[in-house]
Amino acid sequence: MDDIKIGSNMVRPTSFEDLRGWIAALRQAGELHEIDAEVDWDCELGTIARKTFGNGDGPALLFKNIKGYRGPEHYCREVFTGSLSNYSRVRMMLGLPKDASIWDMVQTARHHYNQRVKPIESKTAPVKQNILKGADIDLHKLPIPRWHRLDGGRYINTLQGTVTKDPETGIHNIGIYRGMVGKKDTLPVLLWPAQHWGHHMNKHERDKKPMPVAHVYGLEPSFAFCASSPIPTGVSEYDVVGSIRGKPVELVKCETVDLMVPANAEMVIEGYIDPDPATFEPEGPFGEYTGYFGGDQGNKHVTRVTAITFRNGTIHQGTLEGTMPKMLNENSIMSSIQRAAVAFNVLERAGVPGITKVHCPAANNGTTLIIQLRQFYRGQAKQAAAAIWGSNAAHMRYKNIWVVDEDIDIYDYGALDWAFAYRVNAAEDDIVFFPGTFGSALDPSTRLKYRNTQVYGTGKWCRVLIDATINMDFDPEPQYGGQRYPASVIPHQEDMDRVNKRWAEYGFKDAKQ
Ligand SMILES: Cc1cc2nc3c(=O)[nH]c(=O)nc-3n(C[C@H](O)[C@H](O)[C@H](O)COP(=O)(O)O)c2cc1C
Repeated sequence: MDDIKIGSNMVRPTSFEDLRGWIAALRQAGELHEIDAEVDWDCELGTIARKTFGNGDGPALLFKNIKGYRGPEHYCREVFTGSLSNYSRVRMMLGLPKDASIWDMVQTARHHYNQRVKPIESKTAPVKQNILKGADIDLHKLPIPRWHRLDGGRYINTLQGTVTKDPETGIHNIGIYRGMVGKKDTLPVLLWPAQHWGHHMNKHERDKKPMPVAHVYGLEPSFAFCASSPIPTGVSEYDVVGSIRGKPVELVKCETVDLMVPANAEMVIEGYIDPDPATFEPEGPFGEYTGYFGGDQGNKHVTRVTAITFRNGTIHQGTLEGTMPKMLNENSIMSSIQRAAVAFNVLERAGVPGITKVHCPAANNGTTLIIQLRQFYRGQAKQAAAAIWGSNAAHMRYKNIWVVDEDIDIYDYGALDWAFAYRVNAAEDDIVFFPGTFGSALDPSTRLKYRNTQVYGTGKWCRVLIDATINMDFDPEPQYGGQRYPASVIPHQEDMDRVNKRWAEYGFKDAKQ
């Protein structure tokens, strides 16, 4: 596929073919750290990942020697993590130059979200090199980390692509939803009715049928990026991945369920999820994206595994969840791009005028959205918030929306804080609450009783808008020179020019002082 001009960049859609191609590209780019020393799957691996991910500035990690997983029966011995825990690798995935800004990444992502490249059926399928069924299925043979000491189990589903199909339209969905190793052949999962696979499950439940599912592990990075993005209902993530990689995804039929999965994956776990609560098994807690463990925990839906297919020398891909200040990870880095890109598309589709930029700071995984706009009339901020909150993309996200004028740098917290201080007045309707909406059952600021996802979809939130734009409802004032707001203290250009010209004369060496 040819380069595409997006904003000021020429973007080159790039296929890495598979996880191994991506790992090779990272090695060449100096973005990979390989660990040959023996590492314990039990909390040691997760702690190394935590330290290395740091503030979103660490390399990806390939663990080659996992304690207790070197025997002949261990067909999977390596664990890869941190694929997209640094913007440098998000730029690589999106085919952007090294100096591309956060906004460049957001614009590129939103371009791809609007494109469709249909998948094709593959003639070859490395993921079918080995096939296990029946008594040969044993999930305990896999080197799955216990990422955090308080995790309720060994979380295998952290950066997988979970594939399900709408039984009415046949459209495939790929999502990242957490799941842990249960018994030898069970994989309990967190399955909420409001997420896309939840929509599929609702239909199977109505028909009293188990839902076919395929959990896919080890893929090139555009899969995880799209699987964890709220791609609109009715659009398959396969089509958007095809656009990012510049060529169709190659799919192959599953062995025991009627689903199509990427032929180049490292491993696929196939099975069925029964809607009957009598089949549920314990799941959770899990070190969640909020940085807390207090999320959804209890008896949950279970994948009953019917087959495992995998490549020779298969590599497990997973990730460390849980974001805190100065502790970023793949979800937070990806979210800051995905959630901003999706929000911009939602605002555009809703026809909200004047939107210039949007931003989701990485530490809150899209819980706070900052919108910058050019005001034409009072009420634009409320129009923007209403559009975002009315969209399906607002499940678990965009609890707080902060709207600022064009002169405020949305990447500078000091600038946002200044606008909050002097352009917000609650008496002027600048702070608006939107109570009783769907929210996030993993957010510890939500009382436990309001986290019932059967009742509230993804939990119950009161959302808030902070309208930090200059109030256009103010009258122009003669004492402000006919403006709504007084003049600011920014020096006049003529005074700046005069001082800049004489800067060295004052004894300053650096022109920037
Ligand atoms: C590492 C990671 C873990 C996630 N875990 C979950 C989860 O357990 N449950 C969930 O509903 N969403 C989870 N998400 C968010 C979903 O992937 C995201 O909402 C996505 O849009 C879901 O796909 P869908 O829109 O096709 O339903 C996770 C995202 C990431 C990056």
